[in-house]
Amino acid sequence: MTADLTASRALVTGAGHGIGRAIAVALADAGADVAIHYGQSEDGAEDTAARIISAGRRAKTFQADVRDSAEVSTLVSDATDFLGGLDILVTNAGHLVGRALVAEMTDDHWQQVLDVNLTSTFLTCRAALPSLIASRGRIVTMASLAAHNGGGAGATAYAAAKAGVVGFTKALAKEVGPQGVTVNAVAPGFIAGTAFHDTFTPADAQKAMVAGIPVGRGGTPEDVAAAVVYLSSPAAGFVSGATLDLTGAQWVR
Ligand SMILES: NC(=O)c1ccc[n+]([C@@H]2O[C@H](COP(=O)([O-])OP(=O)(O)OC[C@H]3O[C@@H](n4cnc5c(N)ncnc54)[C@H](O)[C@@H]3O)[C@@H](O)[C@H]2O)c1
Repeated sequence: MTADLTASRALVTGAGHGIGRAIAVALADAGADVAIHYGQSEDGAEDTAARIISAGRRAKTFQADVRDSAEVSTLVSDATDFLGGLDILVTNAGHLVGRALVAEMTDDHWQQVLDVNLTSTFLTCRAALPSLIASRGRIVTMASLAAHNGGGAGATAYAAAKAGVVGFTKALAKEVGPQGVTVNAVAPGFIAGTAFHDTFTPADAQKAMVAGIPVGRGGTPEDVAAAVVYLSSPAAGFVSGATLDLTGAQWVR
């Protein structure tokens, strides 16, 4: 069954490429108009928007550093103005930043990882909540398998930040449930072909990761996007405070 998001208005952060782009395109394919956020460089955002526009939906790009409260407020306000309201927020932007062992980690590294993954989620949700409460909307946050299994060596800050996203998602779901807003997380495992892994995971390590996935393949950005579309749809109205693991059974609870 394909979700029908006709006339929905969505903001996806970090949607220039990778998982964020796949989410933006999938939401548009389901009928939504989409505000495409990107970070420091244009990052492919114009191409994401062009794909959506050519498929007959509305789309526009918006730049902001998701670690910066004022920039996030402007992002959400401009995106909401463009869309004429907001029904769906996907806080996809995030980054490993780099690997660092705790004994050698700088204060700055720790803070950067928390800011870009966890504080950004809080800032974006806070700015969007008035519009989402008005529309009885949906929030989907981006966690990671690392929140459950700790990630690889040197990923403590990232694992802590993504576990924080899971906790934030649960608490916010309780807080805004009475106002009609659902809040869920997706927690992808290894998603192949993303800049994330091409930057931080050597090819042989990527191969080893796939070998450890019971379903026999790495995930794709489209696998993540399909889950986000479901969580954004009317069919998921009773799903809130959940974390949907997308790991090909690499992680089972
Ligand atoms: N690739 C994977 O296997 C995987 C697995 C689990 C979770 N994730 C999460 O999925 C999300 C997307 O990852 P991806 O693999 O597509 O990686 P990516 O690096 O291709 O995308 C990350 C996005 O976040 C944006 N971003 C980063 N820092 C920013 C900042 N300071 N301000 C604004 N935007 C910023 C980037 O512009 C980019 O669009 C991330 O939150 C990542 O942690 C990825």
